[in-house]
Amino acid sequence: MSVSALIVAIDGPAASGKSTVAKRIAKELGIVFVSSGGMYRAFTWLTLEKGISPADTDAVIALLGETEFKGGEEEGLGTFAVNGRFLTREELSAADVNSNVSVIATIPEVRARLVAEQRAYAEKTGLVMEGRDIGSVVFPDTPYKFYIDASPEVREQRRRAEGITDSIAARDKTDSSRKASPLVVPEDAIVVDSSELSVEEVVERVIAEIGVRSGRPS
Ligand code: C5P
Repeated sequence: MSVSALIVAIDGPAASGKSTVAKRIAKELGIVFVSSGGMYRAFTWLTLEKGISPADTDAVIALLGETEFKGGEEEGLGTFAVNGRFLTREELSAADVNSNVSVIATIPEVRARLVAEQRAYAEKTGLVMEGRDIGSVVFPDTPYKFYIDASPEVREQRRRAEGITDSIAARDKTDSSRKASPLVVPEDAIVVDSSELSVEEVVERVIAEIGVRSGRPS
């Protein structure tokens, strides 16, 4: 197996720790980390910036048609520009983006466009991508599928500790109940409950399972 072909899909609900874990795994494996949520967030930011209501699906789809996306990579991190603009961490996790991103993510046209962008990353490099539908829809053929979970209490606590205003229960509900590629545990995914585990423990578990599934136990 060549490293460039390695695609690790990590899904899970909001604040399950999957982003921290995915970043660490990418670093250990020497491949690129991509946050697919960041892509939905970037387009949500643009929608709000243009004064478009996320509930106005026709206007959002019209904006999508006029928007240029560009995925890239910098020092092992996947980057994503909307109309030539890279957004800051603060912009991507602003309260109004947090509260509207799941509505934008229910729109099938938005998903189709961003899934194509997500697949484009894999044409150039091996990667660890985290999101909600990475194992189920974006890369269904990869054997390296993980679902990182944590109890609702632990997840709320993690967000509070980060000082971020984020109604994760509402987002989880929208993400799990939407018609277009809802958050699901992919059938052949390994589920890791991170509630009682340290980041290191989750990373070790995932790396060990990648070794097992590649036929090279570590
Ligand atoms: O992962 P993150 O919390 O940044 O994702 C923000 C939102 O983007 C999710 O709550 C979800 O609505 C949407 N999303 C999605 N599919 C993905 C990644 C994120 O629908 N693969």
